[in-house]
Amino acid sequence: MKPLISKIAGCGSYLPERVLTNDELATKVDTSDAWIVERTGIRQRHIAAEGEFTSDLAFEAARSALADAGLAAADVDMIVVATTTPDYTFPSVATQVQGRLALGHGTAFDVQAACSGFIFGLAVADNFIKSGQAGAVLVIGAETMSRILDWKDRATCVLFGDGAGAVVLVAAEKEQDDLGRGGTANARVRGVLSTHLHSDGRLADLLYVDGGPSTSQATGYLRMQGREVFRRAVVNLSDVVVEAMTANGLTADDIDWVVPHQANKRILDGTARKLKLPSDRVVVTIDRHANTSAASIPLALDVAVRDGRIQDGQLILMEAMGGGMTWGAGLVRW
Ligand code: ACO
Repeated sequence: MKPLISKIAGCGSYLPERVLTNDELATKVDTSDAWIVERTGIRQRHIAAEGEFTSDLAFEAARSALADAGLAAADVDMIVVATTTPDYTFPSVATQVQGRLALGHGTAFDVQAACSGFIFGLAVADNFIKSGQAGAVLVIGAETMSRILDWKDRATCVLFGDGAGAVVLVAAEKEQDDLGRGGTANARVRGVLSTHLHSDGRLADLLYVDGGPSTSQATGYLRMQGREVFRRAVVNLSDVVVEAMTANGLTADDIDWVVPHQANKRILDGTARKLKLPSDRVVVTIDRHANTSAASIPLALDVAVRDGRIQDGQLILMEAMGGGMTWGAGLVRW
């Protein structure tokens, strides 16, 4: 039997209806549209309605990805949800989605790697598929960041938004279909080529939430040392992107689209500059979505697929960094 690879069968997303613009935010905290746009590139964010939870967003994104893949919910045998804002301490968001999809087979669980969560979820799903333990996996990034923001802290509350995105991975036998320009055989195969995960727990204090069930029985608020996060992000993201390209015998010229975690426009620009990647090959949604943490990559991916930028056979590089600190990258031939 040939080795297995994870192919992306479809993707989807969901954004809450309510849009909060910078101007409206400036009526609540001491900030301005000009400051937020200049420092972050953010113009607006979506905010979940009262009574609308992370599992609701995740479920809608899952439905949209399944429809895009042309698969029924019953075809799925694993659900991985990346989130830092679950509805409850338990059950997991993944099992809630599994219930909403009326599924009682296979398995469902959450992974938590803050803003890098989607890459971590993708890596887990890919490895389950490659080892033959799963045949079709829903990987979902879903967040209601608005629920863990201190709306009095202007340095953080302007940065985040709510949303969800999903992809369906299916197992396929590894074939060489000679679509790419890459240098190695692996680079010409379609599907997830590789994933690369990192973390450094010594840096936990740079970005964290100051509550939780074991410490305070309260959810807490997001706290961040913005400048230090910024500095580390550009260095670590550049390193992991080089690691991913090197592992596949590729260079920046081979990448058709970079779909980065949407943390901050200046982080996206700084990383692209460092890697000599033209900025018109970077998918940017931070202006409309703000930072939706684990949801930002699958949301951006879905935007670029729907508007026709991402085409079959193209090479897609995803990268993210988040609290923990955690960071990672994934290379996919679409
Ligand atoms: N509106 C107006 N003024 C503000 C605001 C605001 N929303 N927020 C902070 N300021 C003020 C500060 O109070 C400070 O004023 P002072 O000089 O009078 O003390 C001044 O702006 C500069 O503050 P800094 O925090 O030094 O501003 P900086 O230029 O570093 O920008 C920012 C802040 C945008 C958060 C930046 O540090 C950054 O982009 N960091 C990266 C962090 C990030 O993107 N995190 C996202 C989550 S992590 C992730 O996803 C990887």
